[in-house]
Amino acid sequence: MDQYAVVGNPIKHSLSPQIHSLFAEETGQDMSYRALQIEPDRFEEQISKLQQSGFRGLNVTVPFKEYAFALANKLSPRAQHAGAVSTLIYQKDNQIAGDNTDGIGITRDLIVNHSVLIEHRKLLLLGAGGAVRGVLGPILAKRPGLLTIANRTVEKAEQLVEDFYDIWDAQASSYADLGRETYDLVINGTSAGLQGKVPPLPANVLGPNAICYDMMYNVREPTAFVRWAQENGVIRALDGLGMLVEQAAESFYIWRWVRPQTAPVIDIIRNTA
Ligand code: ATR
Repeated sequence: MDQYAVVGNPIKHSLSPQIHSLFAEETGQDMSYRALQIEPDRFEEQISKLQQSGFRGLNVTVPFKEYAFALANKLSPRAQHAGAVSTLIYQKDNQIAGDNTDGIGITRDLIVNHSVLIEHRKLLLLGAGGAVRGVLGPILAKRPGLLTIANRTVEKAEQLVEDFYDIWDAQASSYADLGRETYDLVINGTSAGLQGKVPPLPANVLGPNAICYDMMYNVREPTAFVRWAQENGVIRALDGLGMLVEQAAESFYIWRWVRPQTAPVIDIIRNTA
């Protein structure tokens, strides 16, 4: 049986084993998928050990996406642009290929699952860390009309704008300087939610019918950012569970060459996890 895993630290609460088991069941693939915790100082050694013991591929999560980027022998263009790897493919001759499925995960969830239009719309992205860098290329490829990246440390937003200048002329901002423009879509890519917080965002950034999307998810209760959006009158406040399932589906497709249906899996996870 082909073996796969997600590696991270911590990893205990990962939903990926359940998601991939549902995909395998649905598509009739004979495979196993588990969650493995790895210590940062043993990352390289463990990744190579898993390859020797017959694993076929891995998902990589916090804090290892940059480690995996550095370790892969080959990188897909989307991994290269993201500067991070979320999916490793063990290949012949001990080669390890790296890809990044996070960007396609969010764009598919927004566009296909939620019918959210990005093209020509005004987008505000909150945060300028690895999570935002990972999804920026695929979001920009959908050609928003305006894209502002706001971050607490504004220099990091400026750096991102510069790094992606070849595909789009985005703009950087502090939170305090927001408010002159209203947005159609506000995406939270900060990790503030881990402490139950939201970035210091003025509510007047929300345009009429604005949609809010949190890259974080919580199947039990609304995330802090979803709550903030609802409290400020946003009707469509979405969390990132769909993104998680969509990025998993893309990894599954890379490994197995079969594309699973995601909607039933999102439903099951939302209602049973
Ligand atoms: P990740 O890989 O999850 O993106 P990261 O690279 O550490 O993690 O980035 C975390 C992001 O969340 C950053 O944009 C960070 O802002 P700073 O760059 O100014 O540190 C943002 N962030 C974390 N906690 C926050 C908070 N309480 N308010 C606003 N932004 C926050």
